[in-house]
Amino acid sequence: MPDSSARVYATCDIGDAALARVRAAGLRLEVHASPLPPAHDLLLRKVQEPGLIGLLTTLRDPIDAALLAAGAANGLRVVAQCAVGLDNVDLATATRLKIVVTHTPDVLTAATAEFALFALGTLARKLAASEQLVRSGNWSHWHPYLPFLGQEVHGMTIGIIGVGRIGRAFAARCIGLDTDLLLHDPRHQDAALIEALQAECDLRFRHGLSREQHRVRFVDLPTLLEESDAVSLHLPLRADTHHLIDRAALRRMKPEALLVNTARGAVVDELAVAEALRKRWIAGAALDVFAREPLPPDSPLLDPAIADRLRLFHHFASGTKRTRLDADPDVGMAGRAVAGLLAVLRPETFGDPRQLPYIVNPEVLD
Ligand code: GLV
Repeated sequence: MPDSSARVYATCDIGDAALARVRAAGLRLEVHASPLPPAHDLLLRKVQEPGLIGLLTTLRDPIDAALLAAGAANGLRVVAQCAVGLDNVDLATATRLKIVVTHTPDVLTAATAEFALFALGTLARKLAASEQLVRSGNWSHWHPYLPFLGQEVHGMTIGIIGVGRIGRAFAARCIGLDTDLLLHDPRHQDAALIEALQAECDLRFRHGLSREQHRVRFVDLPTLLEESDAVSLHLPLRADTHHLIDRAALRRMKPEALLVNTARGAVVDELAVAEALRKRWIAGAALDVFAREPLPPDSPLLDPAIADRLRLFHHFASGTKRTRLDADPDVGMAGRAVAGLLAVLRPETFGDPRQLPYIVNPEVLD
């Protein structure tokens, strides 16, 4: 018989379909009603309420040591994050306090990878400026090169920094656009990945699907920055990736190069990106993530002088109905977050949680 006093607090509405599964598992669920994130002191009060054993969180909640300690003292057993990135969670403290942390890898890989590619396309082909021209009534005549031209993505050398799940998926999609690829990852060099991507390029060329033979190489970071026509970031935010793209890195890039960030805002130094665009060290950037979200009105990235070269999005790369809300744990982030929560709180129904690839610290269960 499920323990009816066992409670879960969701810091955000992640959709009725997935949340219904929490209730169906006999847990009492409270969902934070506002679309804005709960304040930290509200969260602190919630984790101390009687019977609170599970938290469903998103990337906007700071799950810090104070919160985890208060939760652990009150019996909190799991933080199930509806996001793949976990930079907002103090994982070391959670593990020390024996709180399981789960997240939602894999289900957002394809959506994020294609968004990064479309962001690059939008930037390179100046789609926002083209639409603005039509809407503003300033499109006075067709002309071969006025008022502006774009850059083609095909034929580019694309640098991919971070070749985990999303970086690999992005690489696979770039091949379809006939690009050369330079790959770099601060932690691992994956020879099998290079071989597979190169084989795909070779196959396209052999069958006449690609007019030129394209190459895939693993390189060091300076080489990637210096040789790429576009650089896309696919790294988690960690101490060693914080401001990886700083002033010095931007100085290394070609003046016609483009930068795409769908990873985490603080992987780039935003002040340096604004300067690089202003001084035309690089030709453009498309950013979906920011060190502070929502982007503060006084951000240097909102300088109108660089607006024509900078596309800004609202942390939207995984933003499709299917990827964000589907209740199937193999399809949607909401489903996967709830599956992580229930695997820990209802193992008798949902199987051995140690088997789930989306439990980050399974050692806590031993
Ligand atoms: C999105 O940024 C995520 O981490 O899921």
